[in-house]
Amino acid sequence: MKKRIAVLGASGYTGREVLRLVSRHPQMEVAAAMSARVGAEPEPPELPFDGPIEALDHDRLADCDGVFLCTPHGAAAMHARAALERGCKVVDLSADFRLRDPAVHASTYGEDHGPDLRDRAVYGLPEFHRAEVAAADLIANPGCYPTSVSLPLRPLIERGLIDLGADVVADCKSGASGAGKTPQPRTVFGSVHENFLAYGVGTHRHQPEIWQTLGTDRVLFVPHLLPVFRGILATIWARPASGVDAASIRTALVETYADEPFVRVYERGMPELNRVQMTNFCDIGVADVHGRVVLVSVIDNLVKGAAGQALQNMNLVLGLPETEGLLS
Ligand SMILES: NC(=O)c1ccc[n+]([C@@H]2O[C@H](COP(=O)([O-])OP(=O)(O)OC[C@H]3O[C@@H](n4cnc5c(N)ncnc54)[C@H](OP(=O)(O)O)[C@@H]3O)[C@@H](O)[C@H]2O)c1
Repeated sequence: MKKRIAVLGASGYTGREVLRLVSRHPQMEVAAAMSARVGAEPEPPELPFDGPIEALDHDRLADCDGVFLCTPHGAAAMHARAALERGCKVVDLSADFRLRDPAVHASTYGEDHGPDLRDRAVYGLPEFHRAEVAAADLIANPGCYPTSVSLPLRPLIERGLIDLGADVVADCKSGASGAGKTPQPRTVFGSVHENFLAYGVGTHRHQPEIWQTLGTDRVLFVPHLLPVFRGILATIWARPASGVDAASIRTALVETYADEPFVRVYERGMPELNRVQMTNFCDIGVADVHGRVVLVSVIDNLVKGAAGQALQNMNLVLGLPETEGLLS
């Protein structure tokens, strides 16, 4: 029997992406697609599934196996509690449970709406937390920028291959869908088209998550807005540890990800957005630049940065093959 799945926030960018993926998943079916506004009409482009988007009703979750929360931070915690009470596994795409330290959460996102659930949530970067994810019932799906920075950098920091006496710079560029569907002056066509800008410099909410995931505050993150709809390209500059060069860093990444279905480390050349758009892959390139190492990673912010990684996590918590519905 197929697993019954509910999507909350189904009319948003990540909600639509989850619907697209779950609709074609061989072992899942969409049991309920709900959004905040009662009777919200699907907005163009047409939704990637046949059913209606309905008003929020937590009782609809009672016969569901899994729930994706594609809702804003602050709102997600309440829905997570309702879904857990009804016996569902929950993957939360918002930031409500990502930060372990309540004080850091409060200074980054304001009021803590889920302090009772914080310790129950597992940070769902499957490449590093696969066993904990599979045993959990509440998954904090990582942010899009943190995913693009953590996958190339974390194994290198863990192996002591990066000199953390020097700052590491993560210069990240995202498409406009990263900001969600609600039009904002910064993300409307007239502002994004033929333009390129840095934003949230020194203030972006993903900085503490990057520090937490990498276990160091030596990584400086600077986000930029690309004039494309989907995709993140992260360019990371670091100084290798003593006796380490770019070739050995590349070898370490190849070894780390040899058996990982969604991370590809390039033999040569650098990845580009269009190689990963609409996929759950993270592609990584490595180069030596005058003794520094430059890592370039690309993901689709709506897939490996959101809905695809969430499906990877949902497969794990429901006991399905991790790649199901994500490779074709
Ligand atoms: N966009 C990305 O690349 C990305 C990547 C990783 C994580 N995320 C996170 O994923 C979440 C969703 O992002 P998004 O880009 O899909 O946002 P979005 O396009 O703005 O969609 C938000 C959705 O949440 C619904 N909603 C709003 N308030 C709600 C509430 N109080 N209770 C239930 N539903 C509510 C909206 O419903 P209505 O249509 O009825 O207003 C809409 O369906 C956010 O927490 C975001 O930070 C986004």
